Amino acid sequence: MLQSVQWELSDPISFRVMVSSPGFLVLLSLAFSLVECGLIYPAFQGTPATSDSYDFNGSSTDTSNIVSTAFQVDQKTGANANVPPNQPVANTTITAIDGRVENATISSSRRSLSIRGNPSLRRQVSDYEEVFAGTGTGAGDRDAAVVGTAYLTYTLVNNATYNVADCLAFCDATPDCVFVNLYYELNNAWLDHVYSAHSNLKCVAYGDVHSAAEKTNFGGQSLSGTDGPLTYIQDSSGWASTSFIVSTPDGYDALAELDGANEAPGYMGFVFLDQYDTDACAAVCNDQSPNDVGGSCKYFNIWRAVVDGIPTTYTCALYYIPADPSTATNHGQGNLTVTDSRGYKRKNYVLNGGFEDYTCSDLSFCYSEETDDWLATSPQNGDYDASFFHFQPYAHTGDSVALLGSAFGRDNLPGTLTYAPGLSTEPGAKYVIELFHSSYYSGTSAEANAFVEVYWNGNLVGSVDHGYSQWKYYAFVVVAEGNDELDFYGGKAPSYDFLDDIYVMRA
Ligand SMILES: *[C@@H]1O[C@H](CO)[C@@H](O)[C@H](O)[C@H]1NC(C)=O
Ligand SMILES: *[C@@H]1O[C@H](CO)[C@@H](O)[C@H](O)[C@H]1NC(C)=O
Ligand SMILES: *[C@@H]1O[C@H](CO)[C@@H](O)[C@H](O)[C@H]1NC(C)=O
Ligand SMILES: *[C@@H]1O[C@H](CO)[C@@H](O)[C@H](O)[C@H]1NC(C)=O
Ligand SMILES: *[C@@H]1O[C@H](CO)[C@@H](O)[C@H](O)[C@H]1NC(C)=O
Repeated sequence: MLQSVQWELSDPISFRVMVSSPGFLVLLSLAFSLVECGLIYPAFQGTPATSDSYDFNGSSTDTSNIVSTAFQVDQKTGANANVPPNQPVANTTITAIDGRVENATISSSRRSLSIRGNPSLRRQVSDYEEVFAGTGTGAGDRDAAVVGTAYLTYTLVNNATYNVADCLAFCDATPDCVFVNLYYELNNAWLDHVYSAHSNLKCVAYGDVHSAAEKTNFGGQSLSGTDGPLTYIQDSSGWASTSFIVSTPDGYDALAELDGANEAPGYMGFVFLDQYDTDACAAVCNDQSPNDVGGSCKYFNIWRAVVDGIPTTYTCALYYIPADPSTATNHGQGNLTVTDSRGYKRKNYVLNGGFEDYTCSDLSFCYSEETDDWLATSPQNGDYDASFFHFQPYAHTGDSVALLGSAFGRDNLPGTLTYAPGLSTEPGAKYVIELFHSSYYSGTSAEANAFVEVYWNGNLVGSVDHGYSQWKYYAFVVVAEGNDELDFYGGKAPSYDFLDDIYVMRA
């Protein structure tokens, strides 16, 4: 009934009232309780006692740092002459963090391009194409092995013939393999006398496609005794899978393939990966320390850097504001080209967690006890102890926000905010509840009793710091039961608690 009321303060003592509703007489009586020690209750469109001036969008993608770091990392390798065949594929590693060259493994990676385990997607030999041929096996023929990114492992195939079929089958059986380099390595005593395969035909698996320009290892190693002949390479061919699948990590939604790399606000930094591994990038995003102003990582952009035509590294760029195709405008700089750019947005299991769906047509101020997805309830004898406001000065981001504490200052009872639909979660999986909270509306002393408790399926899982506070980030980890209920309980007018930008994400 009060939704079309606007108060306008001309000075702290006298104020003008503009009324355009039948509740006029009711309002006049309310006006007596309007000010308590100078406090204007939130329902009367007060001005918060203090306020933050944040740059919510933070900084934008530091492209020049990404590019200059790409020239420092060396992720190219091959099947070294003295490494035994059939080593397990190493886990994806981080090769740089924000311009610092690193060498760290990512523990939670499940690997991305997995075709294994889905028989309908198994590749046939006809699913490969020859990228480049070898130079032959004549006495004088010399060739070179690939030294490239995303090396996985290698095997020795029966060398009675130039055994392309067994090599492609090996690629098939190797998770994430999309390319093999098949070649003879001569004068390697390990191959000739040590390994049980007794074959000098190497089949090397990669997680990225390489070209003849990357055939740079000509052998020349001494592996047959002190004065023995040096190793050399013959008949080095390359075969690429014509189809592969990039997996969408749990808890993320894939955007359509991007035209370039994002240059977008809310940037949290980048890592380089040694593989194009979306699961590894998601693990890095999930583990990233939250930004004070923007909260946790909510989007990543993964892309392949190609320098002068040669794959060089795999960028995983992190953002707390989900980016979209409109900012995917970076196609590269100088000799570096951006390819295979994809964006993944972290799922928010609550709809409208920023309350922005709640608006008041053309007014800038209104309030309510419900939105499409949220419900605000007061205890018995309570009045408007929980509510939703559309009013930019109250909000953390955007224009709308939730309030705990009697909006009209009529009682000091706590209210409850409930996410009405229940959450479509996976039972047993871990989730993180993220929110921003402020309790500065009434000023330091009047906010002394501010509090908010977070309930998950009726169980207390945590609370925000009591008393006066500027906008502050909080996160609570919970385990889902499926169709979970999320409630926030708090406020004790004149101590007011505002909540905004509530996310529930896979941990
Ligand atoms: C922040 O970025 C969004 C788009 O992501 C834009 O709509 C908004 O105007 C920006 N705000 C500021 C303060 O720059
Ligand atoms: C990275 O670490 C692995 C395992 O610890 C090691 O084998 C490799 O040589 C290291 N690479 C670099 C470039 O330091
Ligand atoms: C990859 O990481 C998993 C989990 O941390 C670990 O169990 C596994 O041994 C690692 N694999 C290799 C080849 O290092
Ligand atoms: C196969 O490899 C073994 C071990 O290196 C070598 O002795 C043999 O000559 C090779 N056979 C052919 C046909 O190249
Ligand atoms: C690409 O350009 C960078 C910066 O100008 C330079 O350092 C690098 O050597 C170039 N790389 C190649 C392969 O041309």
